[in-house]
Amino acid sequence: MDIAIVGTGYVGLTTGACIATLGHVVTCIDIDKAKIAGLEQGKLPLYETGLDELVTSERRSGRLRFTADLAAGVRGAGIVFVSVGTPPDLRGDVDLSYVRKAADDIAPHLSKGAVLVLKSTVPAGTARQIKRQISALGRNNPVASNPEFLREGSAVADFFNPDRIVVGADEPAAARSLASLYAPFEKHGVPVVVTSTVDAELAKYASNAFLALKIGFINEVADLCEQTGADVASVAACVGHDKRIGSAFLAPGPGFGGSCFPKDTRAFIATGRRFGANQTLVESLIRSNELRKRKLAGRILDHLARGSVVAVLGTAFKAGTDDMREAAALTIVPLLQQQGVKVKAHDPQCRTVGAKMLPAVSWHDDPYAAVADADAVVVLTEWPDYRTLDWRRIAASMRGRTLFDYRNLLEASAVAAHGLRYIGLGRPVSQPPAAAKNGSASTAGDWHDIAAAPY
Ligand code: UDX
Ligand code: UDX
Repeated sequence: MDIAIVGTGYVGLTTGACIATLGHVVTCIDIDKAKIAGLEQGKLPLYETGLDELVTSERRSGRLRFTADLAAGVRGAGIVFVSVGTPPDLRGDVDLSYVRKAADDIAPHLSKGAVLVLKSTVPAGTARQIKRQISALGRNNPVASNPEFLREGSAVADFFNPDRIVVGADEPAAARSLASLYAPFEKHGVPVVVTSTVDAELAKYASNAFLALKIGFINEVADLCEQTGADVASVAACVGHDKRIGSAFLAPGPGFGGSCFPKDTRAFIATGRRFGANQTLVESLIRSNELRKRKLAGRILDHLARGSVVAVLGTAFKAGTDDMREAAALTIVPLLQQQGVKVKAHDPQCRTVGAKMLPAVSWHDDPYAAVADADAVVVLTEWPDYRTLDWRRIAASMRGRTLFDYRNLLEASAVAAHGLRYIGLGRPVSQPPAAAKNGSASTAGDWHDIAAAPY
């Protein structure tokens, strides 16, 4: 069956390339002509593990095509996916203008019986609104919901190894069409849950909100571990062995970021308010997550005098991606700079995008250059390469003695052995063996109100 995908971003491009491997001819469509031109020359607009090879092989097979001509791309397709952006609006709710415009653009070119499938993350009831919208345009095609559960950095692997596939269909024809597309997965034992469009739309938000709640929970448990002398990794292991809880998403960090959790949790509480079913746990989670980034910035300032230099290792919202959308660095770095701290930074993938998003930072391609003469080093992203840095060499090149590991990426004792004070999350502070040069006490401005500042 021919498939069309409107919106060739992280989700649309990955989904299109992966579906092509199932033997379908897939046309990826985008409004951004430059993006399409690049893809036609084999240049990907984004970094995603394994996607480059997949796009190359599927293009070569003739199964994967790219066009900016939506009418031509949609014509003849049995399924048309919509994966255009669904950014937050000024109230934190979802801006559906791109989805509605895509439906208007697609409707006139839908073949008889073709299914319009919303893959973008949209609030409950959107598929039914779009159904009414295209009916008003004289099209009675089915409209379905097929949310994705792809993580950036592992999206290709997640596509081929899903825990479940969710098909939201209010009409049997849509259920049949999507069940046929995903039959190879069902044959290999992947649960394909066929339900209503509203169930599918809500399930996507509920999944992301629950995953984010796990992260927010372990972050606050880490704070308690620091006060009680416990080790959060050990506590998380004990908790995570309970099959009802599971060990995934129990790693403390500087606060979750990315293009999904922050946006989707805000959209989820907006939906709750709209339908009179307030999601108070998720409302509290959002406050806790924002406060955490400020609190951790405050901890760094505790150890610095005005005019100090801090080297940040890692600015991506997580390792394995070049994406800095809502990354913790975007909150923590400006708070340091507002207190007169000079910030240097390294990130293996984010230098280009980082220089645009944090222009006042001194960016370095080499982590050793970034940490030279720094009063403190802060690890914000769990890039594996940081584990194998020469910490003796780093300690010798730094001016100060403190390392903040906001991903618990490093071995505390190994870092302390080189004379650095190691401060992780939910772990005991590791002091250097001898009395090391002490970072001067905080004489930074009255930053303490950062944590309380409204955001
Ligand atoms: C998007 C949504 O933001 C997300 O909520 C949903 O879960 C999946 O699709 P993502 O792929 O990360 O996620 O978005 P983005 O990388 O911004 O790609 C969206 C693409 O749609 C862009 O390439 C943009 O050019 C394109 N687009 C946008 C269109 O083709 N037409 C439009 O009218 C608007
Ligand atoms: C998420 C969901 O996992 C995915 O199912 C959905 O389709 C899109 O949103 P993504 O945002 O790409 O995926 O990355 P994810 O791995 O979930 O990480 C999100 C944020 O949580 C990152 O900032 C990450 O550093 C943080 N995180 C994750 C933690 O702090 N601790 C953890 O244990 C896991």
